[in-house]
Amino acid sequence: MAASASPSIEGTHTVNISRVYQAAGQAEASEETIKGLDAWRSMSPRQQPTYEDADELAAVLERLRSVPPLIFAGEADKLTERIAAASRGEAFVLAGGDCAESFADADADRIRRRVQTVLQMAAVLTYGGSLPVVKIGRMAGQFAKPRSSDTEVREGVELPSYRGDIVNSYEFTPEARRHDPNRLLEAYNISSSTLNLIRAFTTGGFADLRLVHDWNRGFLGSNPNYHRYEQMAREIDRALKFMAACGADFDSLKSVEFFSAHEALLLEYERALTRIDSRTGDPYDVSGHFLWIGERTRQLDSAHVDFLSRVRNPIGVKLGPNATYDDAMALAEKLDPEAEPGRLTFITRMGAEKIREGLPRLLSQVGDQLPHVTWVCDPMHGNTITSNTGYKTRRFEDVMAEVAGFFDAHYDAGTIPGGLHIELTGDDVTEVLGGASEIDDEGLRRRYETLVDPRLNHDQSLEMAFQVAEYLTKHQQEHG
Ligand code: PEP
Ligand code: CO
Repeated sequence: MAASASPSIEGTHTVNISRVYQAAGQAEASEETIKGLDAWRSMSPRQQPTYEDADELAAVLERLRSVPPLIFAGEADKLTERIAAASRGEAFVLAGGDCAESFADADADRIRRRVQTVLQMAAVLTYGGSLPVVKIGRMAGQFAKPRSSDTEVREGVELPSYRGDIVNSYEFTPEARRHDPNRLLEAYNISSSTLNLIRAFTTGGFADLRLVHDWNRGFLGSNPNYHRYEQMAREIDRALKFMAACGADFDSLKSVEFFSAHEALLLEYERALTRIDSRTGDPYDVSGHFLWIGERTRQLDSAHVDFLSRVRNPIGVKLGPNATYDDAMALAEKLDPEAEPGRLTFITRMGAEKIREGLPRLLSQVGDQLPHVTWVCDPMHGNTITSNTGYKTRRFEDVMAEVAGFFDAHYDAGTIPGGLHIELTGDDVTEVLGGASEIDDEGLRRRYETLVDPRLNHDQSLEMAFQVAEYLTKHQQEHG
């Protein structure tokens, strides 16, 4: 086998992962497959950190090549199946979490509130939209950020930009902003403990639908959507009691599937966490279930596209307002040459102003030709503005206008709106303007905590879910 026969660095990358749960039927990766995993190195990857000490980096990467996988290949395959169902309109994808997770915020309460918020949104969508929801957290690995500028200037002082906790620290000092390879290992460890807690919450009974009321506990009763949720939870309760009286077996409600996702930005990290699945001999990136390529790194000749084309996880690509027919077709050809349902998701992020022109154009050109691709809406990244009070923010109404434009474009084109990808937190922050509690320019000051992009708070997240459930129901009623 390539891994054990060769003492080279490549060998250590290819520890079989599936042996842990499947002893029989070992398959090996070809030399070519293994070599291909490093092809990105000659493609000048964008948005990478610059480390001063090559030996320090090498030591960290060596360690990362031998750590246990965060996810199993079989779980990634299951997610591919689930996303495939969404591409057919038989499920709806909900991906949510921080723009940038931080090491400091990876505590039990904050993680729980984020999971709770996603579970609540999923309950609203499942109940209101009558569709199974594929639950994905932008969590347990969302630590690396692409930046438009390499440096940041404050009061005449220029320092390297903050690139996410996996690279450097937010504090504005030369030491904090240094690119530190040891953070790669810390990101792995924090991803591991975060995912451990998520697995405990979602399989240990906490996510049982019979606790649908409890998920609202700890949030603010003064928030308008809190009450709307309580009302829906009462209806779900009644329905469950009715089913129980009919003798239904609720064992399957005790645990839910919850997947992790992040932008696969730091290729050294993703490469070091790639393993060969012994069932098939195929490489999987075991740093998370779902990995996406950002708008800034999705060029056709990009290192990121090349690397992700070679791992078997379900993957996403962001498509901004300038994405063309040629871009979409070439990305699909490169990333999903076998046209496998669930493998490729296009995450459109056009902005409220552009989506009503940009998305119908794209769908009319490619919709028919790529029926196996799943279309998901990111209504956040095309709608970022600066408030009068100087905060990087978004208007809730713009975010919702993009969501509406997304549904309209798909329904008009006869294609499937497959899901949502959003930046949210379970905390009562004030980062996005508007929503039912009408956060205004001044209100942003009250609790603005994000390190990068503004997130929907708990109330705004529920409000979005109720609205989206209405879009789904309306379409089902009109079209059966
Ligand atoms: C993100 O999802 O945080 C992000 C940076 O998005 P995009 O690549 O679409 O700008
Ligand atoms: Co963001």
